[in-house]
Amino acid sequence: MSFLELAKKRYSVRSYTPQKVEEEKLDKILQAAHAAPTAANLQPVRLIAVQSEEGLEKIGKAANIYGAPLAVIVCADHNKAWVRPFDKKQTADIDASILTDHMMLEAAELGLGSVWVCYFKPDIIKKEFELPGNLEPINILAIGYSNEEAADPERHSQTRIPIKELVSYEKL
Ligand SMILES: Cc1cc2nc3c(=O)[nH]c(=O)nc-3n(C[C@H](O)[C@H](O)[C@H](O)COP(=O)(O)O)c2cc1C
Repeated sequence: MSFLELAKKRYSVRSYTPQKVEEEKLDKILQAAHAAPTAANLQPVRLIAVQSEEGLEKIGKAANIYGAPLAVIVCADHNKAWVRPFDKKQTADIDASILTDHMMLEAAELGLGSVWVCYFKPDIIKKEFELPGNLEPINILAIGYSNEEAADPERHSQTRIPIKELVSYEKL
């Protein structure tokens, strides 16, 4: 499958079977995160992979992960992230998100479903997982075997803004 085919095939899964994610598959997902680039290669990121009933319950206090048997909490360290000197923009969220995207697409390649979750209570995640003050939970990626009918890979002409609106050449 080409990268474009995979990107089109992936969809957000909001219903999962109880089947656990195999250790080898989790390992590949984490390797994909490890290979992701970050600004100036500073890697201001930490991942917490959660599979235990107790850990998933803790996430459940902060977020809906739709019954997924695995979730990766993607955290960024604001003390370590690159800062653009001209306007002081910090890339922590961007760095965390590129790791998340790498994992999401690796999961799709492995035949797993996932959903990227930002609708969560960060204070509860911080408290439940005893995060130090410098670490902010940015994204949660819920992963597992889909219990949904697969979305149409050709749906994007309907579900995205037209590519003509998205892209312009040379000027806006
Ligand atoms: C940054 C970001 C945050 C998201 N947060 C949530 C969320 O909290 N809950 C949820 O169900 N889906 C969430 N999603 C999934 C989007 O709703 C979904 O990707 C979008 O509707 C497109 O659908 P598709 O992924 O099936 O192509 C999020 C996606 C992104 C990229």
